[in-house]
Amino acid sequence: MAENVLTREETFALLKEYNSNEALIKHGLAVEAVMRYCGRKRGEDDEKWGVIGLIHDLDYEKYPEEHCKKTEQILRERGWPEEYVRAVISHGWGICSDVEPKSDLEKTLYAIDELTGLVTATALVRPSKSVLDMTAKSVKKKWKDKRFAAGVNREVIEKGAQMLGVDLGELITDAIEGMKEVAEQIGLGGQAV
Ligand SMILES: [Fe+2]
Ligand SMILES: [Fe+2]
Repeated sequence: MAENVLTREETFALLKEYNSNEALIKHGLAVEAVMRYCGRKRGEDDEKWGVIGLIHDLDYEKYPEEHCKKTEQILRERGWPEEYVRAVISHGWGICSDVEPKSDLEKTLYAIDELTGLVTATALVRPSKSVLDMTAKSVKKKWKDKRFAAGVNREVIEKGAQMLGVDLGELITDAIEGMKEVAEQIGLGGQAV
């Protein structure tokens, strides 16, 4: 089959075809924005990084029991290149896939997936309910409170940062900066929420 990389808009349409849950769509948008930010920062193809981030949880609403595996199947059926499929499924390494993140792109996705959840939860308990005026300090404070956003796996984030060789504080700042670029779309723009 001919390889087929969807444009950003086609990818977003595909995500919406499989997901109606607004929180999942916002999660995809947040991960896309942070991937784009990190890709750009490294001088890489930020469009590719963004598209992979946007689609990474494609199957989660319809096939939570087959997470990663269904996405792999759907993307392969649509002729997505191996590099993209591999990167997408590597985010579930050790949880729902045995594909270990190897490239900087894959390691970044692995590290920031859970982190965007912690940034979102932290923003929502701030008076401004916004990421726009937020720094890594707020997230670090919440990091230590294990009952806060208890579903966020801090170990995965730490491991991802280690694999990347990036300081955790820097990674948190990158996540916040990336999410600022889509603050309105992900409901973290403050007043407009
Ligand atoms: Fe996932
Ligand atoms: Fe995710």
